[in-house]
Amino acid sequence: MQRNFISDTAAQVGKEVVVCGWVHARRDMGKITFIDLRDRTGLLQIVFIPSNKELLAQARVLRPEFVVRITGTVNERPEHLRNPKLATGSIEMVAAKLEILNEAKTPPFEVDKDTMAVNEEIRLKYRYLDLRSERMQRNLILRDKVTSFFRQWLSARRFIEIETPILTKGTPEGSREYMVPSRLHAGKFYVLPQSPQQFKQLLMVSGLERYFQIARCFRDEDQRGDRQPEFTQLDLEMSFVTQEDVLSLCEQMMIDLVKAVAPEKTITSVPFPRFSYREAVEKYGSDKPDVRKDKNDPNEFGFSWVLDFPMFEKSPEGGLQAAHHPFCMPNPEDVGMLDSEPLKVRAWSYDLVLNGYELSSGSIRIHQRELQNKIFKLLGLEDDVIQKRFGHMLEAFEFGAPPHGGMAPGIDRLVMILANEPNIREVIAFPKTGDARDPMMGAPSEMPKSTLVEAHIATDL
Ligand code: AMO
Repeated sequence: MQRNFISDTAAQVGKEVVVCGWVHARRDMGKITFIDLRDRTGLLQIVFIPSNKELLAQARVLRPEFVVRITGTVNERPEHLRNPKLATGSIEMVAAKLEILNEAKTPPFEVDKDTMAVNEEIRLKYRYLDLRSERMQRNLILRDKVTSFFRQWLSARRFIEIETPILTKGTPEGSREYMVPSRLHAGKFYVLPQSPQQFKQLLMVSGLERYFQIARCFRDEDQRGDRQPEFTQLDLEMSFVTQEDVLSLCEQMMIDLVKAVAPEKTITSVPFPRFSYREAVEKYGSDKPDVRKDKNDPNEFGFSWVLDFPMFEKSPEGGLQAAHHPFCMPNPEDVGMLDSEPLKVRAWSYDLVLNGYELSSGSIRIHQRELQNKIFKLLGLEDDVIQKRFGHMLEAFEFGAPPHGGMAPGIDRLVMILANEPNIREVIAFPKTGDARDPMMGAPSEMPKSTLVEAHIATDL
């Protein structure tokens, strides 16, 4: 007989079914034993009755987290024994056969309770157990709903999902990069992408027109609650669009997402309020305004747009650095000031802010070689450096690059806010600690000398 998911058993009253899962709890009540069986879809109460003595004795060996397969009959529970809190609370299964598929040691913390109070190092060391808890399963299921929603919503609007390389060359997004030594090319390195920024622009040059990707990004930066060394963006890019086109597409996508995956949430205002960067800073003292009316309401979602970011900001060395990244299109009204007053030049770049978090950045991009070259020069890059780092972009722009733009909402931050979680680690299956370690896998780790030699690496340790 085929195994049933627990959530499907409520519709099978009177039938004999097979369920599999983990023992969530066991209760011995006189001559009867109950177990709550757990699978990904929920909990089911299973009764072992005294008439089958052998089976009852077998059930009394069960301990939490044992893995079992149980065959039995689904019965309606008497009215007064129903549990309205459980999806299967109106039924129970009377066991006829029990197989123990695997035993379990006592877990280092209780997985049938919220694990938030457990030491996080221990949670991450035993993440596979932490992920058995109801809250973590709920968060991962929500995350899947969010990414599935985006895929289907964008596909219906003729976007196509394209994978871009992980082993690549640096793209400037303002963070330190992770490097991978090349075995075949001594002394050379790949860089893990901070985002697929250059590839998605090149896909526009390729004529793909509407691209998206649930893209893994890597940044070697100091950790915070809303930052991880690797994280995921819903990266998207479109050709022949204005800033307005990108804003309205993303706004509608977010409104539809909230309706589809979190209908209990209300959005503070639609259309989303828009602020220029200067207005936001003047009015809210931040470029991440929290526009919610009631910041204590977990179901209020305050989206807003921040527009007209400056193209440049002062670098710590006193020169210019890109405020977002160097591919943003300067506002044509300000292009005349590029040489004279570059810090006053606004870019066609925008952020989507949610509840005071930067959810997404994006921009209309430069698609002309000359202008892109000028921006690199204003950033203080010498011709040979420009050629070495970005020659491929400049060259591509000479082969019929269409006007294009896009953005990249952070999936981890979005799911964190949707799930009312305090940090993004709660919505990532296997996150890193604050100091970028994985206590479960033991990463980062030393490498055997022979591997280092092969990769042409000499360490000073
Ligand atoms: P940006 O660098 O602003 O833009 O990143 C876009 C969004 O990605 C999320 N994010 C992060 N999430 C978790 N941990 C991190 N370390 C982290 N860093 C960024 C945020 C952020 O708003 N290529 C451009 C996008 C574009 O212009 O289209 C980019 O990466 O939610």
